[in-house]
Amino acid sequence: MRVLVTGAAGFIGSTTAELLLTKGHEVVALDNLTSGRVENVPVGARFVEGDCGDEGLIRSLGEFDACIHFAARIEPGESMKYPEVFFVNNVASTFRLLQTLVVLGVPRFVFSSSCAVYGDQIEMPVDETRSIDPQSPYGQSKRMVEEAMSWLVACGRIRAASMRYFNAAGGTLAHPERHNPEIHLIPIALEAAAGRRTHLEIYGDDYPTPDGTCIRDYIHVSDLAEAHVRAITALDTNPELVLNLGSGVGYSNREVAAMVQRVTGVDFEIRITARRPGDPAAAVASNALAREVLEWRLARSDLETIVADAWSAFQSM
Ligand SMILES: NC(=O)c1ccc[n+]([C@@H]2O[C@H](COP(=O)([O-])OP(=O)(O)OC[C@H]3O[C@@H](n4cnc5c(N)ncnc54)[C@H](O)[C@@H]3O)[C@@H](O)[C@H]2O)c1
Repeated sequence: MRVLVTGAAGFIGSTTAELLLTKGHEVVALDNLTSGRVENVPVGARFVEGDCGDEGLIRSLGEFDACIHFAARIEPGESMKYPEVFFVNNVASTFRLLQTLVVLGVPRFVFSSSCAVYGDQIEMPVDETRSIDPQSPYGQSKRMVEEAMSWLVACGRIRAASMRYFNAAGGTLAHPERHNPEIHLIPIALEAAAGRRTHLEIYGDDYPTPDGTCIRDYIHVSDLAEAHVRAITALDTNPELVLNLGSGVGYSNREVAAMVQRVTGVDFEIRITARRPGDPAAAVASNALAREVLEWRLARSDLETIVADAWSAFQSM
């Protein structure tokens, strides 16, 4: 298949582009490099620098069998400061992309959504039938795209999958996790282990969880990539898919920090600071639907493997 991968210079997009190439697909890697790095784009993909909302550019790239759309601004905290940027970049550009894909007759669209669409849920694990209640412009931007996608599917314009990831983590030697700026717990803890930070901050230890720190579900980026490749094929028998992608297991921030200390062998300092506004106490996925529909099995998403792979990738940078 010929696949357009947007955001392919980013963490998850580059890992998925690499997997597509390994499986014999042709990849056009589109990224405007606002936060991605061109060196992340795998050898063998055709790299095109530009915005996913640039209709003329996308049309000039020819026909595609599918588009996997990772391109987005990703930080909920930043979206609380600059919501307009998130609505233009994550919503308006995506709407233009969808329109262009429909005009081009691209039959399949796979979208990076997020558990942020669920907001603050009490009961864990969270399945796809839960109410949608985003707590940030970032989460709202994902919701708006999902809703538009549903209408396009209902009107027979495209087949589409919304992939609601929990926390992408891990990494491969070719594609380490390095966001700009870095906001994710594991790479920040690795920086503390490597001495690039004086300490690790954990935001709040007075949540209603066993050790008081927030609980999150981490999924290895390689398992995420595999789910995306499978979703392209699954759209042939399902015009619309809405799937949680998580490991189904929650770890507290303290447990993650302890695992990073164990894997790296470095006893870095941990400081508890104030809660961050908008952080839910827990977010753990039910991944039963994705496992069934995609015939998908997690290969590397236990916490020790995630941290060990992330550390190897970090050291290779
Ligand atoms: N990392 C996570 O834990 C996580 C969790 C849930 C959802 N997601 C979603 O997964 C996707 C990929 O996340 P990531 O962690 O790889 O982030 P990333 O920042 O590494 O990658 C995003 C890429 O998109 C590019 N980009 C942004 N806006 C663009 C535009 N308008 N046109 C073209 N390129 C553009 C950036 O330059 C970057 O390379 C995002 O949509 C994000 O919202 C990520």
